[in-house]
Amino acid sequence: MTDNAREILVTSALPYANGPIHIGHLVEYIQTDIWARFQRMRGHRCYYVCADDAHGTPIMLRARQEGITPEQLIKETSKSHQADFADFAIQFDNYHSTHSDENRHYAELIFERNQAAGHIHARAIVQAYDPDEQMFLPDRFIKGECPKCGAAEQYGDNCEACGATYAPTELKHAYSAVSGAKPIDKKSEHLFFRLGDFEDMLKSWTHAGHLQSEVANKLDEWFEAGLQEWDISRDAPYFGFEIPGHPGKYFYVWLDAPIGYMASFRNLCDRTGMDFDNWWKPDSDTELYHFIGKDIIYFHALFWPAMLSGAAFRTPTAIYAHGFLTVDGQKMSKSRGTFIKARTYLDHLNPEYLRYYFAAKLGAGVDDIDLNLEDFAQRVNSDLVGKVVNIASRCAGFIRKRFDGRLAAELDDPALFQNFADASETIADLYEKRAFSRAVREIMALADKANQYIDDKKPWVIAKEEGRDSELHAVCSMGIELFRVLMIWLRPILPATAARAEIFLKVPKSGWADAATPLLGHEIAKFKPLMTRVEKDRIDAMIDASKEDLISTESNAKVASETIETPAVVEPVADTIDFDDFAKIDLRVARIANAEHVEGADKLLRLTLDLGGEQRNVFAGIKSAYHPEDLIGKLTVMVANLAPRKMRFGVSEGMVLAAGPGDKDLWILEPHAGAQPGMRIK
Ligand code: MSP
Ligand code: ZN
Repeated sequence: MTDNAREILVTSALPYANGPIHIGHLVEYIQTDIWARFQRMRGHRCYYVCADDAHGTPIMLRARQEGITPEQLIKETSKSHQADFADFAIQFDNYHSTHSDENRHYAELIFERNQAAGHIHARAIVQAYDPDEQMFLPDRFIKGECPKCGAAEQYGDNCEACGATYAPTELKHAYSAVSGAKPIDKKSEHLFFRLGDFEDMLKSWTHAGHLQSEVANKLDEWFEAGLQEWDISRDAPYFGFEIPGHPGKYFYVWLDAPIGYMASFRNLCDRTGMDFDNWWKPDSDTELYHFIGKDIIYFHALFWPAMLSGAAFRTPTAIYAHGFLTVDGQKMSKSRGTFIKARTYLDHLNPEYLRYYFAAKLGAGVDDIDLNLEDFAQRVNSDLVGKVVNIASRCAGFIRKRFDGRLAAELDDPALFQNFADASETIADLYEKRAFSRAVREIMALADKANQYIDDKKPWVIAKEEGRDSELHAVCSMGIELFRVLMIWLRPILPATAARAEIFLKVPKSGWADAATPLLGHEIAKFKPLMTRVEKDRIDAMIDASKEDLISTESNAKVASETIETPAVVEPVADTIDFDDFAKIDLRVARIANAEHVEGADKLLRLTLDLGGEQRNVFAGIKSAYHPEDLIGKLTVMVANLAPRKMRFGVSEGMVLAAGPGDKDLWILEPHAGAQPGMRIK
């Protein structure tokens, strides 16, 4: 630890506990992790904490739908989130939950301090209420016809057909998405946080270097529109913390979500003996950074600093917002197979490919970033495998075979090494500024130089000539020395590959400063390939598997689309279809001639469907509900004119109809025994 070691606390936004981690989320966790690993390599004391965001209506309803308690749901989700993160080498110092004692403590404390300071007041408001479920309905849980264009099945406050925005009360023929009941107006008392009390503080805070300039400018628009008071309470039933002194009222999920950062850190402090207050007191000289997506800026750059300062805690050093992920230029899409879960990716590809690709694309701004699958393969193959790893594989064999695995005692080209050493601070500076794409460009330019050096010296030629041993030794050693420096710079991005390189180089875990000193005369181990090429068919298989997920989790996807806070990943809800569209669907009675398990598929059964002469091969996501032997001989209903679709396990030539919330509760349609295979359904 150096004397000028900084004390840094870093967070990523807390993922909701009702859905899996997907590659869109990973932009953020990878970005933050790279930055935190970089800070640690620089010798700073950097802690990276996160947690699941476990409260709110969508989580309560999702648990209910699955027939489990919210506590069970958030426990299971937390497990799978943490497994996904670990497998992507996201190195948290602590992973906690907003449904925790620490979070309750700080939520109450922050609320009470703000209340004592006069920033909270109560007032009755009228809201939509579901009389059957006896619950107030968040906007996203009210559906109806668009008041502008009449499109049916529109959610709460905006129309996906015509783009109109409106109040949920304006919807025609409104109904509750939970029960289907017609909502009634009901009055109830709510608690409000007076954001306006903090206008002066926020106006100066947002322009004091804590935000990216484009974010600060965006906030100016919000200031101009006027700071609204913020409704921080919700009525029972609600999954969250009851508000002290207000029975039946709960903190709104977004009140206690950012407090989850503190809660997770508190939990870490209690485990390790660190002094929490030293980090969170107003004049703390520690640093606090929040990495977030651009969709949640309002909460982090306005409410959060206001709540903290109203409760006499420190405010963040900076908030770093990033843009959204698109895949092949478009929003992630379930039907295109580009809504890729972290786990699906891991089933097919090396996580470090994605870490590298995101790093190569991420800048310090809020621009969206695109995962172009062709470019992804090309970039990883040419940069990492073709340039960096290649340096080591070109030189290592000779060192091992001809020089007992020992590097030369002197550098062949000290000026070139110096050139590398001099770049080290420039690259560090780019990492520090989150200009990862520029850092990667610098590193690859130097990798080109190293390859150029080897191309010029042609060790494979020298090796064949007599009396040139020391030259061969010098050149190959130089190559390895340069390779080592490149791997140090890439370490924040590629921790596992870097660790394998350290085993090959027989060096301890590297810090940034190690780049400046060559190994000289050091013994290295046998070279093993550090990374293999991205295979195109693995990418295709991943996309196919993402389509398979769609079939078997359709009912889950609907719930996911009801989480208001992630509109950017939600697919538009299908509009109504007219009669002509409907008439195009060829529904037929089919006899299940055979049903069998599909090797490697968790959710699919392979069905052979007999249409009265013609047979079809169909993959159906009903394995959770049926044993194959129970299906054979049954009649069912299929869509017979669905275009054949290539899936990971073969071509699917149609679809069977099934209903139910999913998992065990899923039923295929079974026509009356009098029906004949091949009959058209009218
Ligand atoms: N629970 C809130 C955050 C509370 S923080 C006190 C939330 N959760 S989320 O699961 O929807 O998103 C977590 C983070 O992932 C957010 O910062 C969000 O912006 C980010 N992303 C979610 N989808 C994304 C993309 N498609 N692309 C890039 N980032 C995305 O918001
Ligand atoms: Zn409309």
